[in-house]
Amino acid sequence: MAILKIARMGNPVLLRRAEPVADPTAPEIRRLIADMVDTLLDAEAAGLAAPQVHVPLRLFIFRARPERLTGLAEDTPTGIVAIINPIVEAAGERVALEWEGCLSIPGLRGAVPRPERVRYRGVDAEGRPIDATVAGFHARVVQHEMDHLDGILYPMRMDDFALFGFTEDLMRAAAATAGAPREGGRDG
Ligand code: NI
Repeated sequence: MAILKIARMGNPVLLRRAEPVADPTAPEIRRLIADMVDTLLDAEAAGLAAPQVHVPLRLFIFRARPERLTGLAEDTPTGIVAIINPIVEAAGERVALEWEGCLSIPGLRGAVPRPERVRYRGVDAEGRPIDATVAGFHARVVQHEMDHLDGILYPMRMDDFALFGFTEDLMRAAAATAGAPREGGRDG
């Protein structure tokens, strides 16, 4: 197990479409996931996609900690989930605007519009199917990580760059400004 080096915005690995995992149960995939978990915990992050650790494969890990959830009924908490060869689709028309950060864009936060509710499918490292319909933060972190597999970084989803800034300064302004990033909001 190891803490892996994280690619930062500007590195081409973050802009390419990742390749499907041929054998989700392969030992090297299990090792990669274990190292990604170590890396996520070390960074206190909410999610991490394989391209962020310089591995252009279609898998990511994430967690939806109770303190991050929005209160929506389908915003279900999870421990750390690893999903391989995922598919994510919007479930409904509602769009939510919430703050996001990214381990590949350290120190910054932006407000990103995304579908409020999604269905995601894939397999875990034992090859077992995953199929869930979720909302709120859970849906957001899944979409953020899924985007990494398609070479998309969250600023590419933003439509208002007035809602983009350094976390430290946004937090300082939060006392006077509704809608600023929540304390404890961590990167994906
Ligand atoms: Ni990210």
